[in-house]
Amino acid sequence: MLSKKLFTAFNDQIKHELESAYLYAAMVAWFKSENFDGMAHWMEVQSNEEVEHAKKFFEHIFDRGNVVQLQSLNILANKWDSPLAAFTAAYEHEQFVTGKINELMTLAKAEKDYAAEVFLHWFVEEQVEEEDSTLKIVELLKKIGSHSHQLIMIDRDLGKRE
Ligand SMILES: [Fe+2]
Ligand SMILES: [Fe+2]
Repeated sequence: MLSKKLFTAFNDQIKHELESAYLYAAMVAWFKSENFDGMAHWMEVQSNEEVEHAKKFFEHIFDRGNVVQLQSLNILANKWDSPLAAFTAAYEHEQFVTGKINELMTLAKAEKDYAAEVFLHWFVEEQVEEEDSTLKIVELLKKIGSHSHQLIMIDRDLGKRE
C-alpha cells in the first residue's frame, strides 16, 4: 500500500494531469475559434496524452491496494491573446507539473517507497520531453512575430503531429 502521504499526493496528481488535459482542451477550442486547425490538432494530441498520464496514476493507486478518490476539476483558462501566449501558457503549465512530479519523487524517496520511485521515473523523463516540445514551439512563434504567412506554415506543420 501507499503511505497516507503518498496516497494523497498521487491522488492529487490525477487531478493535476486531468486539469492539464482540460487546459489543453480549452486551447483546442480557442485554436479552432481562431482557425488554427493545425495547432488545435497538436493540442488535442497533447490533451489526450494528459488523460493517459492520469490513467497511469489511477492504475498505480489501485495496483498498490489503495482506492482512487476523484476530485472536481478547475478551468485554468480558456482564452489567450495569440498562439504565442497559448503555447507560453502550456510551457509554464508543464513547468508547474514538473515541479509536482519532483515533489512526488522527493516524497517517494523520503518514504523509501521503491515501487513508487520506479513508477515515477517514466514521468521524470516524460516531463523533460513535454517541456522541450512546448518550449521549441514558443521559441519558433517568438521568431516569426506577426508574419502571418509563416504562422500559417507553422500551423500546417503542427497539424502533422501523430
Ligand atoms: Fe502529464
Ligand atoms: Fe504534460
